[in-house]
Order: sequence, then C-alpha cells, then structure tokens
Amino acid sequence: MSKTNDKKRTVQTFISKKAKGEKIAVLTAYDYYMAKLLDQADIDAVLVGDSAANVVHGFDSTLPITMDVMVAHTAAVARGAAKALVIADMPFLSFQPSVEMAIANAGRFLKEGQAKAVKIEGGIEMAATVKRVIECGIPAMGHIGLTPQSIHRFGGPKVQGKDKKSGAYLMESALALEEVGCFSIVLELIDAAAACEITAALKTAATIGIGAGPHCDGQVLVTNDILGLREGDFKPKFLRTYADLPPIITAAVKKYIDDVRRGDYPGEGESYHSN
Ligand code: KIV
Repeated sequence: MSKTNDKKRTVQTFISKKAKGEKIAVLTAYDYYMAKLLDQADIDAVLVGDSAANVVHGFDSTLPITMDVMVAHTAAVARGAAKALVIADMPFLSFQPSVEMAIANAGRFLKEGQAKAVKIEGGIEMAATVKRVIECGIPAMGHIGLTPQSIHRFGGPKVQGKDKKSGAYLMESALALEEVGCFSIVLELIDAAAACEITAALKTAATIGIGAGPHCDGQVLVTNDILGLREGDFKPKFLRTYADLPPIITAAVKKYIDDVRRGDYPGEGESYHSN
C-alpha cells in the first residue's frame, strides 16, 4: 500500500509525476462526501466528470447534462476535496460553439465551482479553443480517443488507434494539445500500443488512461463503476470492480424497512424524553 501525502496537488504535480515516472491516480466524484472520502484516501485528482449524466442522473449518454448542473456538482466536490486537484469536465456544447463560450464556461468552473482545472474533449480540431482557455489562466486537460460527447459519430464504444490512420490522428492530436499547454490528456478506449507511443512522445503532458492499457502516466475510472454502483450490463473489459456495494446497501435498507414495520425502530435509546 502506498504512503499518503499531505501535499496539495496542482497541475504541476501531474507534470512532475510524469517526469519522475510516478503513476497518477484519478477518480470521478460528483458530491461533497464522496470527494472527501477519495481525498482522505490520497487520490491525486478528482474529476467531476460529465459521466454524472449517466451515473447520478440516469441518462443513457453524457449529452444532456448542463453547465448549471455541472457547476453545482463541482462546487460540492471542491468543498470536499482538501488536497486533491479538482478538475471539472466541460459538458457537451459548453465549448464547441465558440472560443468565447468556451472561455466563459471554463471560467465559471473556476469562479463558481472552485475547480482548479477543466477538461475539454476533442483532438487537434479543438486545440485553438483549448489554447485560448489556457491563455486566460485556466489550466486544461485534454481528452482524446473515444470521446463520449461524440458517441453518435463513433457509433458506439469502439476502440480507437487500432489502425495507422486513427493512430496518426491520435498522436497528432496529443502533440497539438501538449503544444497549446495542456498539463494532462485523458486517453479513452485506445489501443494499448498506441497509448504507449503517445505517452512516450509527450514531454510534459501526463496521459491519464481509461481503457488505454498500462503504459499511460496515470489512470482514471468512474468511482461508481469501481464500487459496483452502475447498471449490471455495463462491464467493459478495462473495468476493475473493487467493491460490490449494491447488495450491502440493499441489505441495510431492507433491515431498516423491517425494523420500522416491526416497530423496532426507533427504540428507547433512540428517542427523546423530557425527563
Ligand atoms: O466523464 C467522465 O467521467 C470522464 C472520464 C471517465 C474520463 O470523462
């Protein structure tokens, strides 16, 4: 088990960990208490992912979640994460329509959500927008590969970077995002050899993989997924489940219902008396 570290994590932590070859551990959170638990467990960064649309709000894609909802999740997470770097995910159509919109919305995450960085989906075609966001003083994490906001264009969760053309596009995108100043880039559902090559080619931007093999500078997973808190049919090959909470929660709730129905709860010791 690794030792805990009391130091506050910043985007510089990512850059220096990559330089030292130290792996970076990232998980998602959407609320105060989960962020606090992850932080106390010594996570490097908490990503307030737009996966909140799926795992918190029950949508079948990340597309419907709005800026207002994402800012509220981010502010809650920022109150819980004392040390971890809080990164807010820019939702669908909060940055694609114009550079001005991207800057204004990225700024909301820092001003109202107290995030320390934003994540922006897209490859080389997004680099100019990402550059302007960074020039405004907002640290940005890129996100390439199977970008969920473009799921309808991909036509499903297909592994990227398997052929020469796709690998070349990913490499070109990663280099462009590093060039404009991204401190880190998420590599999602990418062939492990292609992700390894991208990681080696980048000098400062730390690659954070999800379904991109073991050679990335770090890894990210959706916290609900590693705790088993997701629909039973969602079981991608890359996912490792570390706990199975649904039966534990169901058993506790059933016991409570039973106690109430039997008149066993509340007991004398759980009641207030005037004398
Ligand atoms: O929204 C999210 O949770 C993400 C990560 C899985 C990378 O984008």
